[in-house]
Amino acid sequence: MISPRSSVRRPHRPRLLAVLALALAVPLALSACAVTPPSGPPTGTAAANSVERLSHDDPKRPVHLQWPIYDRIPALNQLTRAWMERSDRAFQDGNPPSDAVPPELNGTGTEILATGSLVGVRLDVLESTGADAVRLTATFYGDAASGQAWAGTGLIGASHADAVASAILDAAAAKGIAVFEEARTSAKVRARLLDDVAFDRQGNLVALLQECDVTACSEGSPEVSLPAATVAPWLSDAGKSVRAAYAVQPAAPATSPSATPDRPTPAAPTASAPTASATTARVDCSVAKCVALTFDDGPGPSTARLLDALNAADAKATFFVLGECAAAHPELVAREAREGHVVANHTLDHKQLTRLKRDGQVSEVERGADAIAAAGAPRPTLLRPPYGSLNADTKTLGVPLILWDVDTLDWKHRDSAVVTQAALAGAHPGAIILMHDIHPTTVAAVPGILAKLKAQGYTFVTVPELLGTMSPGVVYTSGRKK
Ligand code: NI
Repeated sequence: MISPRSSVRRPHRPRLLAVLALALAVPLALSACAVTPPSGPPTGTAAANSVERLSHDDPKRPVHLQWPIYDRIPALNQLTRAWMERSDRAFQDGNPPSDAVPPELNGTGTEILATGSLVGVRLDVLESTGADAVRLTATFYGDAASGQAWAGTGLIGASHADAVASAILDAAAAKGIAVFEEARTSAKVRARLLDDVAFDRQGNLVALLQECDVTACSEGSPEVSLPAATVAPWLSDAGKSVRAAYAVQPAAPATSPSATPDRPTPAAPTASAPTASATTARVDCSVAKCVALTFDDGPGPSTARLLDALNAADAKATFFVLGECAAAHPELVAREAREGHVVANHTLDHKQLTRLKRDGQVSEVERGADAIAAAGAPRPTLLRPPYGSLNADTKTLGVPLILWDVDTLDWKHRDSAVVTQAALAGAHPGAIILMHDIHPTTVAAVPGILAKLKAQGYTFVTVPELLGTMSPGVVYTSGRKK
């Protein structure tokens, strides 16, 4: 039987979920790994001016939201702020503070369109509780020329909203997505079908269905596309302008990263690439004080600097790379491997695997590995599931599962001193330390961390050096007990 959102049993999620670390964490780029921001809007356009934040630093119920704002489009700022504030209130209303399992709300805004005077922003929040995580997204558009701004519904003529909602549900059903009956009958749910809409370059309308809202949570947030010709008569004037802006936006993903048409050509694997030193133990960690530094969610604009710092200290690390970032920065992935680091898999685009059926998990992991191999690193044999979130299916994917036992929470604090303190306080022989090379504050902290730990006698090794032979389906969090 189909069930509405309220009675859906949501997938279980382990405690390690505290790491949001969405690859979207850099607010103004298309994604953290994008080579260039959305064609770096030429002068005279509505480039974002700064970032607005909404935070509650309550350790029992932390909230961290940030999104771009535009001086020339106050109406857009009002819409985005109101949505973030609503998300915050709903989160607080539904989740009492907790010492044992603090609920968290993390969110970002990403500029998904920047053409002429038009901009589009996707807001993306993840509500995490002990056993559960729900993602909500919404898109908003603004025009610096007219000062106007619109939510997704504003792109559709008022009298056509219902026709579009029905068309989206039909298209979902045609894709084999089992749509809840409530989505057809409830005006509220139907209205949410237009919360997250964009266009592709051909003018097709792309709607992102809200998680657990229209279909089972295990489907995630599926994307549904309506043909340009079908949608055209239903668009408002704003919708027509936005569609036209997407049509000329150069090489920017309007929706999911997998829809991106243009990627840099992957570097061909070179003769100097991967040497045995990456996987052959240089040190005996049963004797030496070993620590494995791990960097997730990259590579990104700061990764080259990190590699320089690691080289300078003769330190080896393990990079849990996202396939989409590997495709965006193949030269950095190739360099990681060439310089003796281990390049491991963090999935294609950071989906939470436990929300996917086994087939979906296989696809996320295989496509991630394909992209990494195409970038010029050896095909990865280790997996770190996003958010450390895994289930029985994940254990059947044929790869060792590498978690961590020291979490620097660098994604949250974005403060080099705090990251340094967390890494030093947590370090012990056998530690696997979690950081993210997409944050400049983390990369800036690394030279100091290396120097201090080296002074304490530590050797920096890769995960295979630390753990030796690993078995598929086994979860590893550290090498040696504290
Ligand atoms: Ni991650």
